[in-house]
Amino acid sequence: MDKIRIRGGRPLSGEIVIGGAKNAGLPLMVAGMLTDELLTLTNGPRLADLDTMAALIAQHGVTVDQPTNDGRVLAIGGPITNTEAPYDIVRKMRASVLVLGPLVARVGEARVSLPGGCAIGTRPVDLHLKGLEAMGATIRLDAGYVHASAPQGLRGATFVFPFPSVGATENLLMAASLADGRTVLANAAREPEISDLADCLVAMGARIEGIGTDRLTIDGVKRLHAATHAIIPDRIETGTYACAAAITGGQVHLRNGRLTHLGALVRALGEAGVEVIEQDGGLTVKRLNGLHGADVMTEPYPGFPTDMQAQFMALMCVSDGAAMVTETIFENRFMHVPELNRMGARINVHGASAIVRGVPALSGAPVMATDLRASVSLVLAALAAKGETVVNRVYHLDRGYEAVEQKLAACGADIERLSE
Ligand code: UD1
Repeated sequence: MDKIRIRGGRPLSGEIVIGGAKNAGLPLMVAGMLTDELLTLTNGPRLADLDTMAALIAQHGVTVDQPTNDGRVLAIGGPITNTEAPYDIVRKMRASVLVLGPLVARVGEARVSLPGGCAIGTRPVDLHLKGLEAMGATIRLDAGYVHASAPQGLRGATFVFPFPSVGATENLLMAASLADGRTVLANAAREPEISDLADCLVAMGARIEGIGTDRLTIDGVKRLHAATHAIIPDRIETGTYACAAAITGGQVHLRNGRLTHLGALVRALGEAGVEVIEQDGGLTVKRLNGLHGADVMTEPYPGFPTDMQAQFMALMCVSDGAAMVTETIFENRFMHVPELNRMGARINVHGASAIVRGVPALSGAPVMATDLRASVSLVLAALAAKGETVVNRVYHLDRGYEAVEQKLAACGADIERLSE
């Protein structure tokens, strides 16, 4: 298993190109399953999770082509010949459950493995299932699999989310696009990745109102058609490298980064003493003087993203003062805390909140993490730490960050991948 070695203490300086968003690319790939024609996606990031999704879609019989052979362009579509999503693929990536809605909508049935436990909490899929039930599907759970069937097709319905779920909103949005009649999704999630999916579905012929709001109205159509769509830039990759610039006291230009998608993070960075300016087709991030403690609480978009919580906490570890970081989306998303503490941080967790007392400097140590964003928070801490850090279990990073060591090294970081 690969490791990453970092010798900390160098301010980052230069430019980082932000790739297409992983969390937009995954549902967009699944949207290709809604049509016999080809959906062409551009600006695809080269990430392990997208490869897993390609394998899942292909085993449903749907064509997945990479016409330019560099992984950035994906062409997906065609008849569905197999309605089962097997445990072996679903267990690797929760987003696999997104095929459920499109399978039922198109061929009237699906057998999808339940994703099971996950490092950051129980993460059930009950809302995906309740929404499909409201649209007329019969749901049965058996031997670790969800069987959903709607032999006469799905019909439009009103579904009110008890709280917003990104994946369930995406699943139901895709299913509703091919359902008979009008569907209203109320109190829906409205992350930019959902709007990107909705924009793509509209380009494929779907009829969707309320894009960008928490109330989506979808008038089902009989079929969707070919389209070409560019995946939005990854706001979490952007935010992560913004924290990298800040924690090292450097200045970095994040090409393709968009301010509109990062409001809550940019406000928190501002409070911490980090300037973010939109210019030259991206964002310039610069730490002004010292870092100050700033409290954050994760919330559904447009609130502070849970996928930025670990990285912001790493930044707060070296701030002058204290910060309270509260996690409201997932119940067990502080696994980076013991590892950061091993690097000299002073963090105490009380229920859903962590109190971070800033220290003058962190020190390098061997560390490992159990999920993607926790891993990258350790990379950030290592960039600022005295001495050498070795981050183990790099496969977590490779799921969501393309060429992380090349991008950081190009800005002056002393970082190297050690292959085993
Ligand atoms: C997506 C993102 C993930 C991000 C998360 C929250 C992708 C591929 N992943 O995950 O990176 O951290 O949004 O922004 O886009 N829940 C239920 N029942 C359900 C579905 C969810 O109780 O049926 C709960 C979850 O356990 C969690 C909360 O709802 O506590 C939000 O989860 P959700 O928005 O669905 O996250 P994902 O779509 O899994």
